[in-house]
Amino acid sequence: MEPPKLSTPEYSPGLADVPAAESAVSFIDGKRARLEYRGISTETLARESSFEETTWLLLKGELPTQKELADFDEQLRQHRKLPYRMVELLKSLPPDGHPMEALQASVAALGMFFPSRNVTDSASNWEAVLRLVASLPTLVAAFHRLRKGEEAINPRSDLDHAANFYYMLFEREPSPAIRKVLDACLILHAEHTMNASTFAARVTGSTLASPYSVICAAIGTLSGPLHGGANEEVLEMLDKIGPASNARAWLEQAVAKKAKIMGFGHRVYKVKDPRATVLQELAENVFAETSRPALYELAVELERVAAGILGPKGIYPNVDFYSGIVYQVAGHPARPVHADLRDRPRLRLAGALAGAAPE
Ligand code: ACO
Repeated sequence: MEPPKLSTPEYSPGLADVPAAESAVSFIDGKRARLEYRGISTETLARESSFEETTWLLLKGELPTQKELADFDEQLRQHRKLPYRMVELLKSLPPDGHPMEALQASVAALGMFFPSRNVTDSASNWEAVLRLVASLPTLVAAFHRLRKGEEAINPRSDLDHAANFYYMLFEREPSPAIRKVLDACLILHAEHTMNASTFAARVTGSTLASPYSVICAAIGTLSGPLHGGANEEVLEMLDKIGPASNARAWLEQAVAKKAKIMGFGHRVYKVKDPRATVLQELAENVFAETSRPALYELAVELERVAAGILGPKGIYPNVDFYSGIVYQVAGHPARPVHADLRDRPRLRLAGALAGAAPE
């Protein structure tokens, strides 16, 4: 008898249009600029929820009761602190190394301090979730300060997640508008169906690797300039363009050379990314306290001229187009902290802070 013929699935470069899993966690409609977490639009969450409440929603599938939220918030606050030897480890990393690599290394190390290798143990998984969500900002802030030769700042348990993160970076509390925009950034980057870093996380998780290894894989994937790294590239690009009056000529030239315009385009959104819209709105609130930075004026002008040039191809600003500017205005330096640091650190960390992975 002849063996049955196996049909070979068609090769699809970049896995385009190949669904790898269905997400019950979030939903995207790339034509209607809609992103929902568990059925709730992210615009609503960014404006009205908090990082803590949204995280619970993502993890548990529904909004918490007041008591659940209070308990969860308290547990997160208790998991912020790093073991002393973790700080020593961060001190030993090269100060001019990229912060995403520092984050990847330190999350792997955290998994050694708090082993969580039996992934069939739900209590151990929950403990790892709490530690990862709560202590990633502590790791980021500690590396940021240590590489500048400053002391790491201990987390404060009287501040919420976003305000405490800001405090650990700058040793001062944020203004209400900056706290709000930072909180919204964390919400907007918390989940995005099956993007590249989530895909990497799921592949790693499918081998029953520990939650810390899963997040390490996601952080590595997120660090690339075509994913979470794009906001750094946007700032560099805006710097090169110069004044807003150069935007059209610069863009026409770049498009003629078939260059990728950073912060534009998206695998799923063929209209403006809804996260970019809400970020821009919250950024305007921050600018009301300071002033509209020239970089922002330029970005708005670039978006305007790009609508006529790239818009017809369905290429519009994505979340990273404005996020770098927002972080910079919120006080996160986008440039080397030492004269001899050549890379542009930090910005891509924001997405990783949610423990999940943006696209
Ligand atoms: N600038 C100019 N042209 C673009 C851009 C862009 N940013 N994005 C896509 N295109 C063009 C491509 O050149 C290509 O044109 P062609 O058909 O004439 O060859 C066409 O659009 C399709 O390009 P792909 O890269 O296949 O499009 P895809 O939708 O898969 O890419 C991606 C999505 C990778 C995000 C892309 O738009 C890109 O590289 N953007 C710049 C980097 C960026 O901003 N990344 C952040 C994404 S959001 C995030 O990860 C947090």
